Amino acid sequence: MTEALLLSYKALPEVQPSALRAEAVDTIDLPRPDIEAGAPLMAALSRRKSQRTFSEAALPAAVLGEVLWAANGINRPETGGRTAPSAHAFNEIDVYAALPGGVYRYDPQGHRLILKHAVDARNLTGYQDFVGTAPLDLVYVVKMSRLLEMPSQQRETFSAVAAGCISQNVSLYCASAELATVVRGWINHRQLADALRLNEDELPILAQTIGKPAL
Ligand SMILES: Cc1cc2nc3c(=O)[nH]c(=O)nc-3n(C[C@H](O)[C@H](O)[C@H](O)COP(=O)(O)O)c2cc1C
Repeated sequence: MTEALLLSYKALPEVQPSALRAEAVDTIDLPRPDIEAGAPLMAALSRRKSQRTFSEAALPAAVLGEVLWAANGINRPETGGRTAPSAHAFNEIDVYAALPGGVYRYDPQGHRLILKHAVDARNLTGYQDFVGTAPLDLVYVVKMSRLLEMPSQQRETFSAVAAGCISQNVSLYCASAELATVVRGWINHRQLADALRLNEDELPILAQTIGKPAL
């Protein structure tokens, strides 16, 4: 991957999803996060960086639960408040997880993953070398139908900001838990929409790769 190609963010020829590398299940109940664990915030901020080499090792269930809760989980059950802000709490971003055992949508209320498509679509979440071998790719999807009450000129900016907040939560969690991550705007929107089985009103805008750092 040349630097010039990376900077271009150009669409490249389409690829097919890989065969499943783990069993697809209808739902994955995620362990609750350990909110006492990890490095303190200032230490995590001092370590935050983009990394682009990943171990292929699967992430433990506890880590998967923590990543998704950090991304956009419910941290105030009394109000349904989330770990990431969104304008008017429209919560227009859905978080999808591309795993070796399928593509899942994160359900914050149930703190679980719900199967959307039984394919290994990690290799469809971007073009870079590590995509398809790192154990987890998150995809941030705007659900436009949740924004109908927002003035149309704000929708694109505010949903991009909301996705950015989610990605930064994930980046800080990764720094705190000594995981590698990179947020990615270089994605093929149409191919990803197919892989995630999205509806017409759903648009993938960012992806984020997560895994243990390569040794
Ligand atoms: C909106 C956005 C899109 C990005 N897209 C990509 C991408 O497609 N591929 C990639 O390798 N890095 C991507 N990055 C990461 C940046 O290249 C990285 O943050 C920048 O080089 C600074 O490095 P640092 O994060 O280590 O401080 C993106 C970052 C942001 C905020």
